[in-house]
Amino acid sequence: MTSVREIFDTMEYGPAPESAKPAQEWLAAHGERFGHFIGGRFTKPTATFEVMNPATGTRLADVSEGSRKDVDAAVKAARQALPAWQALGGHGRARHLYSLARIVQRNSRLLAVLESMDNGKSIRETRDLDIPLVARHFYHHAGWAQLLDTEFPGYHGAGVVGQIIPWNFPLLMMAWKVAPALAAGCTIVIKPAEFTPLTALCFAELAEQAGLPAGVLNVLTGDGETGAAIVAHDGVDKIAFTGSTEVGRIIRKATAGSGKKLSLELGGKSPFIVFDDADLDSVVEGVVDAIWFNQGQVCCAGSRLLVQEGIAERLYDKLRARMETLRLGSPLDKAVDMGAIVAPVQLERIRTLVEQGKQEGADFWQPTWACPTEGCFYPPTLFTNVAPSSTIAQVEIFGPVLVAMTFRTPSEAVALANNTQYGLAASVWSESINLALDIAPKIKAGVVWINSTNLFDAAAGFGGYRESGFGREGGREGMYEYLKKDSRTEGPKDRRTEPADGKRRSGHPVIRSSGQTSKSAKSSSRAAELDDTDRGPKLDRTAKMYIGGKQARPDSGYSTRITGHDGRLLGEVGEGNRKDIRNAVEAAHAALGGWSKSTGHARAQILYYIAENLAARRDEFARRLTALTGGDGEAEVDACVERLFTYGAWADKYDGQVHQVPLRGVALAMNEPIGVVGVVCPDEQPLLAFVSLVAPAICVGNTVVAVPSETAPLAATDFYQVLETSDVPAGVINIVTGPRESLAKTLAEHDDVDAVWYFGSADGVKAVEVASVGNMKRTWCESAPRAWTDRGDSEGREFLREATQVKNIWIPYGE
Ligand code: NAI
Repeated sequence: MTSVREIFDTMEYGPAPESAKPAQEWLAAHGERFGHFIGGRFTKPTATFEVMNPATGTRLADVSEGSRKDVDAAVKAARQALPAWQALGGHGRARHLYSLARIVQRNSRLLAVLESMDNGKSIRETRDLDIPLVARHFYHHAGWAQLLDTEFPGYHGAGVVGQIIPWNFPLLMMAWKVAPALAAGCTIVIKPAEFTPLTALCFAELAEQAGLPAGVLNVLTGDGETGAAIVAHDGVDKIAFTGSTEVGRIIRKATAGSGKKLSLELGGKSPFIVFDDADLDSVVEGVVDAIWFNQGQVCCAGSRLLVQEGIAERLYDKLRARMETLRLGSPLDKAVDMGAIVAPVQLERIRTLVEQGKQEGADFWQPTWACPTEGCFYPPTLFTNVAPSSTIAQVEIFGPVLVAMTFRTPSEAVALANNTQYGLAASVWSESINLALDIAPKIKAGVVWINSTNLFDAAAGFGGYRESGFGREGGREGMYEYLKKDSRTEGPKDRRTEPADGKRRSGHPVIRSSGQTSKSAKSSSRAAELDDTDRGPKLDRTAKMYIGGKQARPDSGYSTRITGHDGRLLGEVGEGNRKDIRNAVEAAHAALGGWSKSTGHARAQILYYIAENLAARRDEFARRLTALTGGDGEAEVDACVERLFTYGAWADKYDGQVHQVPLRGVALAMNEPIGVVGVVCPDEQPLLAFVSLVAPAICVGNTVVAVPSETAPLAATDFYQVLETSDVPAGVINIVTGPRESLAKTLAEHDDVDAVWYFGSADGVKAVEVASVGNMKRTWCESAPRAWTDRGDSEGREFLREATQVKNIWIPYGE
């Protein structure tokens, strides 16, 4: 007989299979064939494709490929259900969300087993993590629905939302999308991934049984084409997507200029940083959870192990020993650690990338035990001695493959950690809280786990920096993704696009000058040059751009004449081009480190100082503005001073939060600056709009490249004299004048610009959104004019939210 001692050595134990029965019965009840779930019922199955169990290679069911017609029908059902769902109010919807949470809990075994069979993930994970988190998400958002009116005044649901989700956490991703949308008062068309559609269909049916009104939640199955049809549909007001960065880019382009709200949760290559004072046994278990959980098919998987040099070999030895004891096998076995890879195509992708890693010279290691030969299985894999620039260190493998690199100093660790296009998550391991909390803010990622990994909760928003996408899921910030501001201003819906003949909105001619003025230009401006001081400020013919704290001449050597509202020539501004933008972005980057780390108090002092110096030159600026626009210049300057005071006030008050996550510890939600923000200003109220946009951006620690009003830039170029006397560090605010549309596009294309705000024409909005796909920068684009003098419309939290990104730092405590 085997002794207990031997069992401790071998860790051998028998199988502990969970019964597949509840899922099989549910599938059988539907004849293993499914249509879409539209308007509260299943449609007839058409154009079906097979859904397989990746662990066994057997067919589970046939589901339908959604056509354009199906998408139409689903959007129509969602649209019809919308008014009643919104009219139900926050409390009514809270009751539904609460009942959805309960129904998930009541059916937890069915959902866990079905998910495991459909995806290949271990029943331990679906039972203990996925399904409880699904229920938690609905409970949490029942709360937001209840509090909607009081916590989000002035906002309403975005409308009909299209949601597209991946296969790695099918039901959990569905809950992350569906719960906030329902709470906000949206109705939904959701498409699960083609490999894993079954739990979404099951959930929709359960929701209908729980009394969710028909049409509020519609599930369409299908592949990328069905997804693309949802994205393209005119009846959809918002798209929420989780999946690959590649498809995220396609969706960003497809929605550009459509006015659809968009949130993208994309890929990652997250660092797992181990300092030499870390508790290595905990680290080993952390690595297991970081990269072998869900077979490494996790967007925030800790897939890059960065180890301090002195302990690297010791940690690798411990890891190899642990890998030998990992159990891989039937996902329904309650004692396995790792299940199957989702599909043969994903298995192939992992194999190909691993081969590439070997060829690139990294040291490859796998445990000695063998994987099951049937089904899609891949063993845990460790690469050491990996070059930071190699493919396996840069590309998201989305499989159980860990790549390890070493570092010597904390700053080297940060540099390596940030050496990626992504920015989803990071883990930091050290017994020194000082060190860990010093490192966390330096890592460009939406979530940082200290001495822990892969912790999630509905109260703590999840989402990425950089090419990992934008928008958050969970928490208060996640709710904003499904809300729209109540409509605000009367008047034209769009700013007009500049006509092709070169005439501006105000009717001012565009006159280009390169020092030698053409004959006609000369004569047409003659009268205008007879400017006098009581009608306007003295003619300033040398307005320059402002880059890196210095006045700069345009690279082009050209300037543009600027006339007032009455046709008089008021001055000239440089015609900025690509090179000027490049210089300005460089200056903004150089200033970013210092400015973003300065205290809120210090930034407040500078904003107040700008206000003070502008107030001191009130009359001069007022005359300039009146001459430019014909409007009330004094009122505009006064509003600017007040706005600068507002952001001086906010600079030390836009606090983060400490989230109540179910953990012995805290999750700190920190509002961080985005980085370098390109700010393209509208023509109306040229100084006030400029100040209203630049001030919130710098208030929270961003640096700015601003393109002022094209027709009336002189107020902004005068403004740099105020900046020069207000202790604004060089490079924090850079001003490039010239053709708005082309400068905006250059900013949007620039990979070192982290966000672009564009306030201009509808065509310009589209151009900026399309051009932003390069580094998936965040955009905030509007073509509808704002009432810049209206404080409710043009200052405050909305602007600060756009200027920041939330980083959640999880800090468990206790021995
Ligand atoms: P994917 O991004 O192609 O699929 C995700 C979802 O988007 C699926 O529902 C799919 O049907 C849909 N989709 C595909 N093309 C679309 C289009 N043009 N318009 C609208 N929807 C579209 O991901 P895929 O092919 O399943 O996996 C490929 C790689 O992507 C993986 O190896 C992994 O590296 C990464 N990935 C990352 C995920 C994450 O959570 N970050 C999740 C899934 C995959």
